[in-house]
Amino acid sequence: MADIKLLPPDAELETRRVMKQLVRSHVALAELKGFVSMIPNKNILLNAITINEAKDSSEIENIITTHDELFKAMLRENHKDLAAKEVANYRTALWHGYELVREKQILTTNMIIEIQSLIVTNRAGIRRMPGTVLRNETTGEVIYTPPSGEKTIMAFMDNLMKYINEDYDSIDPLVKLAVIHYQFELIHPFYDGNGRTGRIINVLYLILKGLLDSPILYLSKYIIRNKSAYYRLLQEVRTKSNWEDWILFILEGIEQTAEETLLLVKKIRDVLDKTAEDIRVKLPKIYSRELIDLLFYEFYTKISYIEKGLNVTRKTASNYLSSLEEEGLLVSQKIGKEKVFLNKRLFEVVRQAGTER
Ligand SMILES: Nc1ncnc2c1ncn2[C@@H]1O[C@H](COP(=O)(O)OP(=O)(O)OP(=O)(O)O)[C@@H](O)[C@H]1O
Ligand SMILES: [Mg+2]
Repeated sequence: MADIKLLPPDAELETRRVMKQLVRSHVALAELKGFVSMIPNKNILLNAITINEAKDSSEIENIITTHDELFKAMLRENHKDLAAKEVANYRTALWHGYELVREKQILTTNMIIEIQSLIVTNRAGIRRMPGTVLRNETTGEVIYTPPSGEKTIMAFMDNLMKYINEDYDSIDPLVKLAVIHYQFELIHPFYDGNGRTGRIINVLYLILKGLLDSPILYLSKYIIRNKSAYYRLLQEVRTKSNWEDWILFILEGIEQTAEETLLLVKKIRDVLDKTAEDIRVKLPKIYSRELIDLLFYEFYTKISYIEKGLNVTRKTASNYLSSLEEEGLLVSQKIGKEKVFLNKRLFEVVRQAGTER
């Protein structure tokens, strides 16, 4: 059983096949980045896309929830649906990581510890006790024992952070992303949440290297679709030094996912345009750009959001939302004591993209 090694890998990474695929992955990624950069209110997109990512990434961990439960969990602090709550935590962790990277322009072990603690909602941090092993999902047989001892783990983490932050080897960043994800999963620094944390590191790395401006590309759905290849290839890098197939796997994932994300982004923009047009024609008195933005900020809105966002009285805000509901653009629901208004069209587009595999 081969063990984990320090980075950089002692192997040729940028083979001919890798170079060919790299071009395709970069093109798809640049197209997505370019399209998103022209969209005025990006938070709208990010909110929708990170909901699906939180849902997908948690599904790999067998935390399964629906969009409906998820949207309720996001509204209420003590929701009884634990799975939905966990998915909401993942999303919080992702946003927090994004803010840290944007502010600090560097990725550190402490930042990663913070992100993981938000996912698992405990402060256990780096593993101190031995006994963590990776098992074959079906047979239960132990296939790999990650390094143990806080000091050893920290040494591997330092080595990984150097590889992430200092580009001493002039290897393409997308190839490095594959190396980084592999290495992080092999270090397996935490008792739990290593997969989810590793998937967040992927997108943060793309932002760090300027390949994306915002956190919109996630491989979780691709990993779900190709789960057995994902586990097999992680294994083959370690046991057979098969870097090429692993790197190709990640690069193809980036290409496919960038294309799918671009389609979804376009769909969301179309729904927004259509809704804006409908309101302008049917309810010209209440139409404003600010109102549209508020309606698309999350799946749902509340009277208080409209009141604050448009600086109108509570009564006016309530009237606006009622007229929008009468036109069939919003659906009100009572959640706890509160009345919320779901943006039906947006919800449908995001839900659909989030449930197809
Ligand atoms: N053979 C392997 N070699 C290296 N890493 C592996 C192997 N098998 C699994 N892993 C990694 O371990 C992760 C699971 O670790 P852990 O349970 O700590 O994370 P999680 O976030 O709770 O789970 P999940 O990734 O299933 O959502 C997998 O996502 C994968 O990246
Ligand atoms: Mg786990």
